[in-house]
Amino acid sequence: MSAFNAAKLRADFPIMKRLVRGKPLAYLDNAATTQKPRQVIQSLVDFYEKHNANVHRGVHTLSEESTGMAEATRTKLAVFVGAPKPETLIFTRNATESINLVAHAWGRKFLKAGDMVLSTEMEHHSNLVPWQLLAAERGIKLKFVPVEPDGTLDLAKVKALLAESPKLFTFTALSNAIGTVNPVAELIKLGRAAGATIHVDACQWAPHRPIDLKTWGADFVSFSAHKMLGPTGVGVLWGREELLAAMDPFLGGGDMISRVTLEKSSWNELPYKFEAGTPNFADQVAFGPALDYLTSVGLENISAHEHALAAKARAILEAEGITILGPQDSAKRSGVVSFNVPGVHPHDVGTTFDLEGVAVRVGHHCCQPLMNKLQCGGTVRASFYLYNDESDLESFARALKRTLEFFKVKPKAGVL
Ligand code: ALA
Repeated sequence: MSAFNAAKLRADFPIMKRLVRGKPLAYLDNAATTQKPRQVIQSLVDFYEKHNANVHRGVHTLSEESTGMAEATRTKLAVFVGAPKPETLIFTRNATESINLVAHAWGRKFLKAGDMVLSTEMEHHSNLVPWQLLAAERGIKLKFVPVEPDGTLDLAKVKALLAESPKLFTFTALSNAIGTVNPVAELIKLGRAAGATIHVDACQWAPHRPIDLKTWGADFVSFSAHKMLGPTGVGVLWGREELLAAMDPFLGGGDMISRVTLEKSSWNELPYKFEAGTPNFADQVAFGPALDYLTSVGLENISAHEHALAAKARAILEAEGITILGPQDSAKRSGVVSFNVPGVHPHDVGTTFDLEGVAVRVGHHCCQPLMNKLQCGGTVRASFYLYNDESDLESFARALKRTLEFFKVKPKAGVL
């Protein structure tokens, strides 16, 4: 696809025809989950109508078709993210499960009491709680790179903490809550130079910006299909092959074994060693057309488009005197715009926006430590994607005006 045409793309997304409270839907909650194009929805219908059978379990035609279709997505994904081999991509239920897999299967094998895990204050709970559980169980020390008032990480502070020789450095590529784009390649380079194993939470990166795993040089990378036009219930963990091979399984059961006796078992080859039980093969199949769609539009085009829309949304807010959280420098920002209307609870803002058909997320965005650091209980978050266009910005501006009028707020002059 050459010229980016959001209106044309929008026509591929049936839900965009919906009215919400009598108004056209302006879906600005893409950091939570994305809408699905007809191609993804149709592939689910086709799969269930023509191919459905459990994978790896039969020699019958449907089972072989189903297995081939699910594995085709893994192969496609390897190209999409530059994985050296498809079998280094593990399918999980979601990115949270991917991170828990690393904490259980790598952490419990390779970390011991007194070892340090370094993370940051801007993490989603999914990249905090698994490490807290491990720390409580194994006596591991957790340390965190502080978040600066502008929502960025200070590389000098990262280096100082890396000098304490953490065994693992685990960080988000891009903040889901305030939209900070971290210097991923630089952080990985610094972490590797310090001898740390590196895990990158790429949930908010993978849908918007290209990943080249070979260039990144991390050890583990997690992300989720549903945030990149794919179905829910498919997470991804990429791992460096030698680490995956050295790790013990995470979950035990069918499919992840090579041989089982009553006393003990041996493990299947990668990736199946980490895919116990019946996998979510139908959704894995439907993740394929989502990857095709993103490839045909082009991630660079998507990120430029949403960046432009987010800049306009920030201008609409700033014109009303509303402060936006996160970096001032637009080069360090994603398509996420997080803000608060002075004197109005984020939930009340979200409810008023909904009256105008505008879907935004409100609350702590699963980042309570970050919210505490920024001294707010929560925010209102608008997050843009490829199908958003000027009409969504008009709805956004209308919803903001309605909110300010209803709550009698004049941020420029203070709260009335
Ligand atoms: N992690 C998702 C979000 O940021 C759910 O909204």
